[in-house]
Amino acid sequence: MHIHKFEQFWIKLSFVLIAFFIVTVVYGFVAMDLKVIGDHATIDPQNLADTKFGNPGVREVTRNGQTEYEVYVQTIQFAFNPGTAQPIVVPANTRVTFYITSPDVLHGFDVAGTNLNTMSIPGQVAKFTTIFPEVREYGIVCNEYCGPAHHVMEGKIKVVP
Ligand code: CUA
Repeated sequence: MHIHKFEQFWIKLSFVLIAFFIVTVVYGFVAMDLKVIGDHATIDPQNLADTKFGNPGVREVTRNGQTEYEVYVQTIQFAFNPGTAQPIVVPANTRVTFYITSPDVLHGFDVAGTNLNTMSIPGQVAKFTTIFPEVREYGIVCNEYCGPAHHVMEGKIKVVP
């Protein structure tokens, strides 16, 4: 059977590309060791009850003589706890450190209208510190597809005086 040389070229190229895509995906999963970038720790997603995530919410802490806040959030199909059933309430102009993890699947934690945005990965704790400068409300959205009700996974942060 005769195959035109241009056709042969494109057939070969398509196999090379397919091989390249497979290698890229395998490399992504195996070699790169998917992690939240930045300050993070690992956690057993099956046993959050025995950690601070077992009682998620806002905690007042004193650090270097200053009052600060820690917020422990679980991202769950399809809600933020806290955040969805009740808002996360924190004061303005105070350091707030978020600790975020997931007991089920990958979620996002994106504070709409800000650059606060992290993945929430089962087995990993995402952490970031911020100061909300003004009294207002912020929406939280999940920006990682997490299942059929992903699009309704929303929450709220209430910054109070
Ligand atoms: Cu949770 Cu999408």
